[in-house]
Amino acid sequence: MHKFDELSKLFIERFNTDHFPQQPSTLYDPNRYFLQMGGKRIRPVLCLMGNELFDDIGEDAWQVATAIELFHNFTLIHDDIMDKAPLRRGMLTVHQKYGDSTALLAGDVMLVAAYEYLNKVSFKYSKKICQLFNQTAREVCEGQQLDMDFEQQQSVQFEQYLNMITLKTSVLLGASLKLGAILGGALERNQNLLYEFGRKLGLAFQVQDDYLDAFGDPSKFGKQVGGDIKSNKKTFLLIHTLETASAVQKSRLNELLKTDDNSKVDEILCIFRECKVDEWAKELKEKYLQEAFEHLEDTAVLSKRKEPLRELAYYLLEREH
Ligand code: IPE
Ligand code: IPE
Ligand code: MG
Ligand code: MG
Ligand code: MG
Repeated sequence: MHKFDELSKLFIERFNTDHFPQQPSTLYDPNRYFLQMGGKRIRPVLCLMGNELFDDIGEDAWQVATAIELFHNFTLIHDDIMDKAPLRRGMLTVHQKYGDSTALLAGDVMLVAAYEYLNKVSFKYSKKICQLFNQTAREVCEGQQLDMDFEQQQSVQFEQYLNMITLKTSVLLGASLKLGAILGGALERNQNLLYEFGRKLGLAFQVQDDYLDAFGDPSKFGKQVGGDIKSNKKTFLLIHTLETASAVQKSRLNELLKTDDNSKVDEILCIFRECKVDEWAKELKEKYLQEAFEHLEDTAVLSKRKEPLRELAYYLLEREH
């Protein structure tokens, strides 16, 4: 069994080839630019770990891991347009550097490249792999639309938020593990338990993502701190604050949500702190992590083999970027 660090290194070695033709460079250079910025490469590593739980890592798993990372990068390029984000991984976003139209196309062609790798999977598994990949891709689009719809809504229930982050974030983590497990010849029960482990881990992961967006250290975070607040994202921080704030805090918060003032981010952060959302974030992450671990424990594989997944889970929830 490989450890998390070892697998990410091995993946990066394979992934750092040129995935695109030279011309037109105005289309492909933006993608090369984006991919060389790095990123944590978590999803492909989950796929490889899901695979290695059941067998030695096979060629199909490498192809699918590459497809997953390209798909993820496609969603980020488009997400940054939707979220009007200036920074990602400590550098200018693609649309900021090359314009919206190029960023749209660069993302589109990144998705096509993902499918080219998916198409390399051996015939025996191709139908099942494509089905799960496509279902997941569709769900991510649904989640992204709900995320934007919620910006316009005054209130969003916690259950609606959970559904939205399940779709935009969690399903891809679950699917990455399950795709690897399918290719490793896992029994269906184990495939599904791993999917559930990834799905719950994804909830905790998105809680941390929302937390960092508000409270992250700008020198480490790599994205614009306060971006979610600026665009009135209905993160769990805002939802929980609206549920627990005093009448005075609530009316101030609702006023601030209607403005675009320079002080908006600082003032909202101040109310978040008063309502102790940072402590709540910790509890929430811990709850989803424990639920995730229950599914991992139920997976019928020698406990020692699951150690890299446990290590990865802890890393994800403590991460600062
Ligand atoms: C960011 O994902 C998008 C979310 C689903 C929150 P990551 O935090 O995995 O992004 P990179 O690939 O490491 O930059
Ligand atoms: C993005 O969620 C999820 C997808 C890209 C599918 P966010 O908008 O919260 O991700 P970041 O914070 O920009 O990375
Ligand atoms: Mg975003
Ligand atoms: Mg977004
Ligand atoms: Mg975010």
